[in-house]
Amino acid sequence: MTAIADQANSTAPRGDEPEFEKLAKRVDEAMRALAGLDPMSRAIAEEVKASVEAVHRAGLVSIVRRLKADDATREALFELVDDPVVHLLLSLHEIVRPDPMTLANRVLTEVRPQLQSHGGDVALVRIEDGTAFVRLEGACNGCSMSSVTLRNLVEGALTEGVPGVTAVEVLPNEPSPTLIPLEALRIGRDPAQEGWVKLGPTTGVPVGEITSAGLTAGTGEFVEVIVVNVEQRLTAYRNECAHEALPLDNAMLDVSNGTLTCPWHGFCYDATSGECLTAPGAQLEQLPLRVDGGDVWVRVVS
Ligand code: FES
Repeated sequence: MTAIADQANSTAPRGDEPEFEKLAKRVDEAMRALAGLDPMSRAIAEEVKASVEAVHRAGLVSIVRRLKADDATREALFELVDDPVVHLLLSLHEIVRPDPMTLANRVLTEVRPQLQSHGGDVALVRIEDGTAFVRLEGACNGCSMSSVTLRNLVEGALTEGVPGVTAVEVLPNEPSPTLIPLEALRIGRDPAQEGWVKLGPTTGVPVGEITSAGLTAGTGEFVEVIVVNVEQRLTAYRNECAHEALPLDNAMLDVSNGTLTCPWHGFCYDATSGECLTAPGAQLEQLPLRVDGGDVWVRVVS
């Protein structure tokens, strides 16, 4: 079930109806506790919940019908439906249809646990002319079979669960570094002394390619690096395979399944994390990377 508190946050203006948000959180907490009950207790609790909801729904349907039937009260009904909290309540009881964005986010909330259990995620950007535009993250962009399955899951959920949505378009992600400790990503007043070296403009690290460079830090240390661009996600590594430290600049990058294969003995890596898929536990040495003012910076000395 969609978290009611999330919907309350997204529909009620901030600062408005704080009590409602508290109540919604209380419902969500109770729902989470419900999930931890033994099957029989859960079945009883769910029956109580369903019957109370049915009573509320019947009462709300009566109210809406009576207000709608009379010219004098219809306008008040329409004003009430415009109230975000009332709209949420009526849409939760399926008395009014939620707007497509709310409905699409609700549908995605249903599939998100499945995506996250495979290391992926999805963000809805907008809905326009029957097309839902989304950004996919993590494993949704990764290994071929699972990424296709996850994309199909998102597409199926949106086209089947949101009336009027007939297509899903995946937007490219902005160029961004992969996850690395925040502290390591700060550029101070003297980037060179901190080991940061400017690699060059982002246009120099094209999508689907491995860019290699020899970088000399302000401290004098020289490091050979590669930068991998998988669907605009940039990751920098020391140019050494985890097997025998041979260079990876002629490695094979397969964007369709997000893998990087060493040309020497075929060790295969997850291109955005450096995790070795051939020898679990082996790992490429990832270097902090920032995109700043259109330039790619790599920290070669920590
Ligand atoms: S050096 Fe890369 S697989 Fe051997």
